[in-house]
Amino acid sequence: MNTKKFINERITQIKKEIGPSIAICATSGGVDSMVCAFLGHKALGKKMIALFIDDGLMREKEAQTVSKILRKNGIRTVVVYTAKDFFRALKGKEDPEEMRKAFRDTFYKTLGKAAKKYKADYLIQGTIAADIKETKGKIKSQHNVLSQIGINPKKYGLSIIEPLVKLYKPGVRKVGKELGLPKVLYQRMPFPGPGLATRVVGEVTPLRVKIVRKATSIVEQELKKFKPFQAFAVLLNDRATGIKKGKRAFGNIVVIRSVESKDALTAIPTKIPYTVLEKIQKRIVHEIPQITKVLYDISPKPPSTIEYV
Ligand code: XMP
Repeated sequence: MNTKKFINERITQIKKEIGPSIAICATSGGVDSMVCAFLGHKALGKKMIALFIDDGLMREKEAQTVSKILRKNGIRTVVVYTAKDFFRALKGKEDPEEMRKAFRDTFYKTLGKAAKKYKADYLIQGTIAADIKETKGKIKSQHNVLSQIGINPKKYGLSIIEPLVKLYKPGVRKVGKELGLPKVLYQRMPFPGPGLATRVVGEVTPLRVKIVRKATSIVEQELKKFKPFQAFAVLLNDRATGIKKGKRAFGNIVVIRSVESKDALTAIPTKIPYTVLEKIQKRIVHEIPQITKVLYDISPKPPSTIEYV
C-alpha cells in the first residue's frame, strides 16, 4: 500500500462526501478509531467533532486520557456520559450475541442523539476489514458493522463513512504513523468498541465492570514492557472457594489474557515469564477484594477468539 496516496485519497473522499455538512467520529481509544479521528480532522478541521462515549465500559481514566490527546492535537472533542443507558440495556443479558446487539443498538442511538445535537449528518467510523470478516462469518457481531449485514444506519439518523474499511490492523498503524500520530497512539493496543463488556462473562453490572477494569489496569501495567498485541483481564461467571483475611470466601475468578497477533484474525498467547504471572496474581488478589483465583489463558485463536464475549 502507498500510505501517502491512501491518505490523500481518503481525505478527498471525506471532503467530497461530507461537503458543507458536519461530521462526528466516535473514538474508543483503540487504534482504529483514533486513526479515524485524526484522518477526519485532517479532512474537515473544526467541522468534525470527536466523541468519546463514556458508556461506563471503558478502561481506567480513559475519558481523560483520550480527550486530552485529541484536544492536544487540535481536534474538537466532546465527552458524552451515558453509562446508565448502557447498563440498562445490558441488564439481565448473559448471551454474548444478545449483549453485543444490545450494546450496538444503544451505541448507535447515543450517536444518533449526539448527531442531532451537533447538527451532524455524518458519522466517520473506524470499521476495518477484520471487523466485517468476523461479523459476516458469524464469529461475533462486531459493534461497528451495520450496512454490511443489512442494517440501515439511517434507522439511527446517521450516514456512515468508513475510510479504513479495506485495511487490516498493520495498514491502520502505517496510516497512523504517516498521519503524524504520536507513537503511543498508533502502536496502542486494540480496544473493542463494546469495551470491557467483551471481558465480562455473564451479566454486565457496574460492580462486575469495576472489578474487570481494575484487573485490566494491573495486567496492562505489568505487561507493558512486553509490548503485547493485546493484554487484559477477564472476569468469569464461575466462582471458586478461597481464603481472604483468614476467612473462607467463595469469590470471583479473573483470567489474564495476553496475545500476539498481526491482524487479530489469528493469535497466539504471549509467553509471559512465570515470575511476572505470579506478580500479577498477587496484585489482583490483594487489590481486588472479590477475587479468590487468577488463571492464565494459553489458548490461541483459533479455536479461541481474543475476547471472551
Ligand atoms: P476477537 O475476540 O473476535 O477479536 O478475536 C478480534 C479483535 O477485534 C476486537 N473486537 C472488536 N473491536 N468492536 C471492535 O471495534 C467489536 O465489537 C469488537 N469485538 C472484538 C478485539 O479486541 C480484537 O482486537
